[in-house]
Amino acid sequence: MTQPKKNNPVEAEFRITGLNDGERIEWSDGCNTLNYTHSFNHPSFYRRINATGQAIIKACSNKQRSIRSVLDLTGGWGVDSFILAHHGKQVTMLEQNDIVHSVTVQSLEKGLGNPILKDTISNIKSININSLDYLSAIDDNIIFDCIYLDPMFPTHKSTAKPGKDMQLLQKLTGNLDIEACFALALTKASNRVVVKRPLKSTSMTTRQPDLVYKEKTVRFDVYLTTA
Ligand SMILES: C[S@@+](CC[C@H](N)C(=O)[O-])C[C@H]1O[C@@H](n2cnc3c(N)ncnc32)[C@H](O)[C@@H]1O
Repeated sequence: MTQPKKNNPVEAEFRITGLNDGERIEWSDGCNTLNYTHSFNHPSFYRRINATGQAIIKACSNKQRSIRSVLDLTGGWGVDSFILAHHGKQVTMLEQNDIVHSVTVQSLEKGLGNPILKDTISNIKSININSLDYLSAIDDNIIFDCIYLDPMFPTHKSTAKPGKDMQLLQKLTGNLDIEACFALALTKASNRVVVKRPLKSTSMTTRQPDLVYKEKTVRFDVYLTTA
């Protein structure tokens, strides 16, 4: 699949090639190229999902009340959803960008053939939609224990270049209606809304998080809810 990037003054192109266990994405604007292989089937990924004490898991869990269902409003390449699903959550993952959604779904489907991954993948449902449309349309009786957001971080010259996966996301897509999604999420989550932020950045809104879990470069702000 080759698609021109929308709103890009330079005619950039994306080429996506199916592999046995994932997808190869090649981006080029004629001068620069960026290649990335998306796959869940890799020993380094197994180590990542199995790592204990991850802040994302702590942020999306509650010792007193079991948190089972998670709605991920910013699915992207599906890594965070995968980690959550691997740790027992039933994840509904939303992604507005057609290309990103399609690549992630292809890799998930290919991962089903792998006995190490298949149980986790069966805990993930992926939908190609703008999360604000989804949240606005769902019935009042549909409530998720936890709603998760990982908006694209702003890039700063002073910070290290992100990995190729994030560089490609920056070329392909962006944040849509994130503040509105967050506000609506607070009314739709029965236990909490979790927002991933760069470690030193400000909170998403003026409301301060109730809990914060930190890692080396990112943190997870937790907003407790009573929906
Ligand atoms: C930083 S990435 C998320 C990465 C993801 N957590 C992962 O593990 O791969 C943000 C993603 O959110 C998506 N996004 C932004 N606004 C959205 C919206 N309103 N609805 C659905 N997806 C959205 C972007 O297209 C992008 O793919």
